Amino acid sequence: MTDLPGKPTEASRTALSHIMSPNDVNLLGTVHGGVIMKLVDDAAGAVAGRHSGGPAVTASMDEMVFLEPVRVGDLVQVHAQVNWTGRTSMEIGVRVMAERWNESRPATRVATAYLVFTAVDENGKPRPVPPVVPETDRDRGRYQEAQIRRTHRLARRREIQELRAGHERSG
Ligand SMILES: CC(C)(COP(=O)(O)OP(=O)(O)OC[C@H]1O[C@@H](n2cnc3c(N)ncnc32)[C@H](O)[C@@H]1OP(=O)(O)O)[C@@H](O)C(=O)NCCC(=O)NCCS
Repeated sequence: MTDLPGKPTEASRTALSHIMSPNDVNLLGTVHGGVIMKLVDDAAGAVAGRHSGGPAVTASMDEMVFLEPVRVGDLVQVHAQVNWTGRTSMEIGVRVMAERWNESRPATRVATAYLVFTAVDENGKPRPVPPVVPETDRDRGRYQEAQIRRTHRLARRREIQELRAGHERSG
């Protein structure tokens, strides 16, 4: 944690909208997953920059889940917010909704993702971020869930590093 003043979740919440075009499709005629991933990274990057007050880089992206296909003409809305902050990193939660161009019903949730961004200084070195202050029960719940993911990420990384170090020692 840092001694910077806290910032509420609301201060950096961001939404991007994009209408899918024929350039965005794969061979099946639905939107390419990579197009959605780019929008997710863009929205999460905007949140990380807003929250940390400067540049931030994608350190990891996990649990990107595609729930339903997106089609040409759909209006895609990407909603992103800071779920959790560490000393120099932030978990950003992203929800992707699609409003079907040919159906008059509310937008459908088509994907979700969790990304870790690290705030960096002018030399690309990690710099401290303000602690996020979740203000609603929903945001407090997201903070607790993000802490669980963080614990698992660190444990998985440590275990794999130890395993690789063991393989290197034994040649
Ligand atoms: C992300 C980066 C700045 C981390 O630098 P580092 O020297 O490894 O720094 P640290 O080990 O001190 O980690 C800094 C923070 O990032 C977090 N972090 C680093 N790698 C991570 C990973 N793979 N997953 C999740 N969090 C990670 C650390 O937990 C730490 O968070 P904390 O300060 O809140 O505890 C560095 O690896 C980097 O520049 N990567 C390339 C990023 C990039 O270019 N992204 C765009 C892709 S084209």
